[in-house]
Amino acid sequence: MKQNISLLGLQWGDEGKGKVVDNLANDLDAAVRYQGGHNAGHTLIVNGKKIVFHLLPSAICHENIKCYVGRGVVVSLEALFSEIAEAKEVLGSIENRLVISPACSLIQPYHIQLDQLREQSNNLTKIGTTGRGIGTSYEDKVGRRSIRIADLYNEEKLRDKLEQSLEFYNSIFKYSFGAPEIDLNELYEINLEHAELLKPYVGNVIEEIRELQNNNKKILFEGAQGALLDVSLGTYPFVTSSNLIGGVSAGTGISPSDIDYTIGITKAYTTRVGEGPFPTELFDETGTYLAEKGGEVGATTGRPRRCGWLDGFLLSNMVKVSGVDGLCLTKIDVLDGLEKIKISTEYKSQHTSGSLIETMDLEEVEPVYIELDGWTDPTSGKTSFNELNENAKSFIEKIEEIAGVPVIMISTGPKREDTIIREKI
Ligand code: IMP
Repeated sequence: MKQNISLLGLQWGDEGKGKVVDNLANDLDAAVRYQGGHNAGHTLIVNGKKIVFHLLPSAICHENIKCYVGRGVVVSLEALFSEIAEAKEVLGSIENRLVISPACSLIQPYHIQLDQLREQSNNLTKIGTTGRGIGTSYEDKVGRRSIRIADLYNEEKLRDKLEQSLEFYNSIFKYSFGAPEIDLNELYEINLEHAELLKPYVGNVIEEIRELQNNNKKILFEGAQGALLDVSLGTYPFVTSSNLIGGVSAGTGISPSDIDYTIGITKAYTTRVGEGPFPTELFDETGTYLAEKGGEVGATTGRPRRCGWLDGFLLSNMVKVSGVDGLCLTKIDVLDGLEKIKISTEYKSQHTSGSLIETMDLEEVEPVYIELDGWTDPTSGKTSFNELNENAKSFIEKIEEIAGVPVIMISTGPKREDTIIREKI
């Protein structure tokens, strides 16, 4: 098995990363999150109980895996503590298995308030964010005014930074939105309380990862969201605020050349939550069929996911820019019973401002489809490639041809064992 593995969704998130992590878990020693925050959502069944993790790496539910939250993650301590409490109920204490970098930027209540006020405003572009203060916290990071976890342990600095932040945010709340202001003393006290609770989890992520690497341990770098939501290479401005592609290095402190293998995950069709262009979106009964059969409801916000055909143009582009070595294809069983299955391979029209790969401006494009025969013999629950019907095999081979990389794992149902492993990495 390769040692440093990066795992990345290749669509607009919700590709089923939790299940892939679950399948890799037996071979792993550590898992690392490097971007995003509690906007992510991995639904997991642990000891028969359903839990949704947003901030913790989804590998936390495997007792043998040590988990890290790298500096690229924006951390809401309220969300973190509620997740730790939930995890404790089913997993016992995770104190000695969770390490959080003191260089992480914090999400403060004013980030959440501003994110939500902007989304509710009729005068501003609606991104359809999760309303959790992710983008607003990253704005402070790039603006070099974040309050980082390390600042919690210097009371004078913390108070000073909170005061500066509130001066800025409260004037926006008051004058731009007529919204309630946030009290400095209250916020300072909450931060101090959180600082004490957080202490056991703060540690040296870079050093610990280097040590794991020196001892030939296997480490998984878990990307949240999906490549099309990458702030730089995704469908801007309808993206999240972090770099998924190439983000491992900046978000953890390991070298870019350390990654031995990149796994890309794609559903057998496409979904999207939030606003923004979605060229292969279906508004007919097939879209409804995919949504219902696939249980396509957002794990973080409960919003229904928009559904459509697999977009081969975007897939092959995301495979290339992310350096994907092998693909995991999830939810193929959702296509069981469809008479015809479409995959878009290119677009008819292009903007004049630059190639689509350059701009990712998908507002006015029209997809060109290939149509494949569906299947009646279900793929659901199958565990070997040879057991699949010929049409399902052709569908998978077509995806390999379009993406230019092998499909190494296929998920054929929600259970852990509903999986075909074609190549163990
Ligand atoms: P934000 O990350 O909350 O700022 O939201 C920006 C965009 O990313 C919105 O379209 C969200 O719906 C989307 N998004 C954020 N996290 C996820 C996720 O984990 N899965 C799917 N979409 C997400």
